[in-house]
Amino acid sequence: MSVPTFALIGTGAYVPERVLTNEDMAKIVDTSDEWIFSRTGIKERRIAAPQEQTSDMATAAATIALRDAGLTPAQIDLCIVATLTPDLLMPSTACIVQAKLGLPHHTACFDVSAACSGFIYALETAWAMLQSGRYRHALVIGAEKLSTVMDWTDRTTCVLFGDAAGAVVIGPTPAGSTASIVGTKLYSEGENTELLWIPGGGSAHPHLGPGVPPRFMQMKGREVYKFAVREMEDAVRDILEQCNVDADEVDCVVPHQANLRIIDSIAKFLQLPPERFFVNLERYGNTSAASIPLAIDEARRGGRIQNGSLSLLVAFGAGLTYGSALVRW
Ligand code: COA
Repeated sequence: MSVPTFALIGTGAYVPERVLTNEDMAKIVDTSDEWIFSRTGIKERRIAAPQEQTSDMATAAATIALRDAGLTPAQIDLCIVATLTPDLLMPSTACIVQAKLGLPHHTACFDVSAACSGFIYALETAWAMLQSGRYRHALVIGAEKLSTVMDWTDRTTCVLFGDAAGAVVIGPTPAGSTASIVGTKLYSEGENTELLWIPGGGSAHPHLGPGVPPRFMQMKGREVYKFAVREMEDAVRDILEQCNVDADEVDCVVPHQANLRIIDSIAKFLQLPPERFFVNLERYGNTSAASIPLAIDEARRGGRIQNGSLSLLVAFGAGLTYGSALVRW
């Protein structure tokens, strides 16, 4: 009896209308286009409107992904949202998205918290649940309104991030297709919490005020940079070994869109030419859990990911967490 395989059968993305360029950023904090671009590759990012919530962006991306997959909301029985900026602490953003999309009541809806690695974590979770035989079609969404957790007086963080959402539909491999999720690999280093975190706003420091840690993202940039290079190398090496795939067989690498210099070092490590890497961070900055699904959708629509081709996804983020996945389209 053949084991059923599952594939990414639809993708979608949404970015807010408002563009904040590096020049605009230089009017907010003491920075410059030259500094930001030369160190990160970022030129601009999107900022959501005050009334536009993470769930709205997630719903917009998911609507496009469902249409792309040729499915209706009634056919979804699993919905996972990866986010570090949920609309509310309770309930989950996935439940809010369920209501906005009109997903049926038998849909399992929950959020995944793995920061910028969140999409890979959610992908692995959905894949395992589908393989259990108890679910058939999953919506996996990465959505972030990071502009709400930025300290807009801290130039070391606020220039790096943006708002966006991306979504995929995972379902049984269509007849006649070789598409499938080939493998996934997840890691965490819980001892490094304070390299990248939001110290306030959780149960440790629920009440904001004088002397209490702020509910803003704080980061030790240098250390995170070194961690990202080191562990993304481990994540790509391990997934290739696990799936018995040579780096050269990968048609398109879709890395977490945090920093072009980090992506360049992964390209050198894999000995792959830069053309094999999909990069859109110059237009969106780091959109955390939305970064990979947003890039996947653009790469597919732009013809950089073709049916039958093999993609390597790799991410890192707070936790610290990191992970990789191989996907045949
Ligand atoms: N504009 C201008 N100057 C800035 C600045 C900004 N936006 N941010 C920091 N600086 C200054 C610093 O104050 C420092 O000045 P000093 O030498 O007078 O003290 C100088 O630039 C160098 O800062 P440093 O942090 O050492 O720069 P860097 O070369 O390490 O680059 C990052 C900083 C953040 C771009 C880089 O460390 C990085 O990309 N790290 C990974 C971050 C990341 O990906 N996080 C997301 C994880 S999911």
